[in-house]
This record gives sequence, structure tokens and C-alpha cells, in this order.
Amino acid sequence: MAVHCRVCGRDVQKFLDLGRQPLSDAFVVTTKEEEYSYLLHVGVCESCSMVQLLDEIPREKMFNANYPYFSSGSAFISRHFQETADELAAQLTGINDPLVVEIGCNDGVFLGRIAELGIRHLGFEPSNSVAEIARARGIDVVVEFFEQRTAQVTKADRGSASLIYAANTFCHVPYIDSILAGVKELLTLDGVFIFEDPYLGDIVEKVSYDQIYDEHYFYFSATSIRNAAAIFGLELVDVQPIPVHGGEIRYTLAHSGSRVVSAAVDALIEKESLTQLHSINRLQQFAAAVKERSGQLVETLQSLRSQGLNIAGYGATAKSATVLNFAGIGPDLITCIYDSTPAKQGKLTPLSHIPVKPADSFAADSPDVAVLFAWNHAEEILTRETDFHAGGGQWLVYVPSVAVVN
Ligand code: SAH
Ligand code: TYD
Ligand code: ZN
Repeated sequence: MAVHCRVCGRDVQKFLDLGRQPLSDAFVVTTKEEEYSYLLHVGVCESCSMVQLLDEIPREKMFNANYPYFSSGSAFISRHFQETADELAAQLTGINDPLVVEIGCNDGVFLGRIAELGIRHLGFEPSNSVAEIARARGIDVVVEFFEQRTAQVTKADRGSASLIYAANTFCHVPYIDSILAGVKELLTLDGVFIFEDPYLGDIVEKVSYDQIYDEHYFYFSATSIRNAAAIFGLELVDVQPIPVHGGEIRYTLAHSGSRVVSAAVDALIEKESLTQLHSINRLQQFAAAVKERSGQLVETLQSLRSQGLNIAGYGATAKSATVLNFAGIGPDLITCIYDSTPAKQGKLTPLSHIPVKPADSFAADSPDVAVLFAWNHAEEILTRETDFHAGGGQWLVYVPSVAVVN
């Protein structure tokens, strides 16, 4: 049966099957727990070019009081959001009492800075685990999903927003129509919606298939975002590559015709067209490369194990769920995964059931090999864990290829 595009309603063509998967952030206490699972299938819309999942998961199953992803878990990411807040706040200079709305404010790393600058703001954050930390920092946050209805309530209560910002959240939302309709209604006439998310171009180029999991419903590109925006009376006016989370783009949308479109938009769309980024052939090639990469990782792990080496993981990321469950990697190959998040420690990874241990004990435990599941934070982690390599430990990565790195 044909699946219809969540953006434009036309047919979506499937190109990748990553099998049965758990909710990537649903860590469990025991192996006896009943675990939700779904089929991780990815397709591309033949009309608007949006790459998307075929199966939709009820949002409350993912984003709730147990949600264990804390943005402030990375010092680099915290700094990135503080710098972003300063940069975007500077663009509001001259506007009388602007309102900044953040979609998915998490524990408040971005809005915390906006609040410090004395700017009127509101954060939407449905996961209470993280929202309560944002609130404790003095941020104005509602424990609700941003969508058209809540956008309308915000407009009635607080007026229009000069800036709506979302990092690593807009791509999480299948009901993109409701979000864009809400943005269209809530923005001031010269307001902007700025969001940053993993870039399809980077995912395809690096074969970083671990970016594909339940929470990442869409895989954006300049082409697909321009098409989606146009349906809702919005226009893509700027794109900027940003070097976080393995390669993202920061997109700027404005009311159609309200701003000059930067040359960077046409340049990126042209590049996507030249590289045939959305063509089914290119995406099928990517799918073949995913299977090859996954096979290489398992072979490498099995070979290291057969040499009697003890293999651990570093970073119990949401991304790792796809890698582990697609390849069937469990505690027989990777004995445990070290992670700095208290909410994950002492638990088991979803479905693959690998124990999560505190990152503090990594150096003392000193496994022989550590698979860097948090490869997007390589610089931060390798700078800190210098004793591991000095003591003879080896880092194993699988993006952009399966390799031992030092
Ligand atoms: N912006 C942060 C958090 C990203 S994780 C960062 O970049 O680090 C995604 C967040 O979006 C989660 O905290 C989740 O609870 C939240 N979220 C999911 N759907 C949402 C929606 N419709 N409105 C607002 N927040 C949402
Ligand atoms: P991340 O790669 O940011 O995202 P996702 O879960 O969406 O794939 O997750 C990083 C994980 O790694 C998170 O659980 C915290 C952990 N971590 C450490 O243990 N040590 C570190 O130094 C950093 C930066 C992260
Ligand atoms: Zn479409």
C-alpha cells in the first residue's frame, strides 16, 4: 500500500529498510520489560523530495517525563547554543519588546541565554524530565507540544513572535503541516523561523545511517524545505552549514516575499540537484552502503572479540539504537556502554540490552576497545579521555568508515 508524504500528500517511495527497532531513548531496567517496537523504513517523496520515515510513532511514547536526552550533557553543544542565542538576539536589536519562542527547549541551554539577556521568551517542551530543569533556571516554559493549536494560544496570550527557533526538534515532528501553519500564524510580519537539523547531504555522504531512528522523522535538505515552506506561505531565505552533530544546516524561513533570498539557498539547491541527492538511484546506493557499513562493523567486532579483547561502547546515544539493532549487536560483543547521563546509567539499551555504566568509571575499567557511538562529540570526548589511549586503549568509529582512530 502506498504511503503518502506528510508534507504534500503524494506517494513516498521506500529505499531503505532498517528492520524492527525499539524507541531509541527507551532504556529499560530489566530484560523482562515489554518494549515497543516498529519498522524503521525510509522513503523519499516523488513530488516534494522530502525524505521521511514510513511508520509514525505516537509522540507521547517518545517525549514524556522519562525522556533522557539532556542538551547540557555536552559542553561543546552548550557553548554552541549560547553563541547562537547571542547571534540571534543581536538580530532582534531595534525591535520593540520582541518575543522569542523556542520549540523543544529541552533543559534550556538556548533560552537560558535569551532569558539572561532580558528578552521576552517562551519555551515549548513536552518532556517534563528536561522541562523542569529549564524552569529551575528561570525560563518560561510550557510542558506542551508546539503545533497549530498551541501556537494560536500563544499568539492570543502573548502576541506574535519575532523569532521562532528550533534545534534538533523540527525534524522530529511528523505533523509538519500543523507546525508550519502555527509558525505562519505566530510570526510577526518580518519575523523568522530558524531551525537547525541533521542534513540529508551529510548523512548520505558519510553514510551516517545512525542518524535514522524513531525521533528523526524527516531528513531535511534545502530543496525539500523550500518546497515544504512554499505550501504554507513561507519562504526559505537562508541556509548555513553548522558543524554540530555530524553536519547540520541552519534554515531560515520568513513570510513569502518578505525578505531577500540569500545566494546560499540557490547554491545549495543547485548542488543537491547536481549530486542527485533525492533521486531514487542515489538513495538506493546509499541503502546498499548502509548494509555494507553495518556488515563491516560486525565483522570487525567479531574479529576483535575472537582475539580475546574486551569491547565497550562510549555514548549510549539514540543513534546507537539503529546500529545495534540493525546488526543484532548485543552484550556478547559489546559488554557495556559508558555514558555521562545519570538517567541512562544502570539501565539497559533498548532491545539490545547492553548495560549502561557511568562515564566516570571508563578510565578505571579501561576496556581494550571502545566503540565511539557519540562520534559527533569526538573532539570533546577524545580531549577528555586521553588516559584511555595512553594506556593502550583503541577507539573504534564507524563514521565515515569503520576504523580504529587515535
Ligand atoms: N533543542 C535541544 C533538544 C533537542 S531533542 C537540542 O538541540 O539539544 C528534541 C526535543 O524536542 C525533546 O526535548 C522533545 O521533548 C522536544 N519535542 C518533541 N516534539 C515537540 C513539539 N511538538 N514541540 C516542542 N518540543 C517538542
Ligand atoms: P548525542 O550524540 O548528542 O545525541 P543522540 O542521543 O540524539 O544520538 O548523545 C550523546 C550521548 O553521549 C549522551 O547520552 C551523553 C553522552 N556523552 C557522554 O557520555 N560524554 C560526553 O562527553 C558527551 C559529550 C556525551
Ligand atoms: Zn511530498
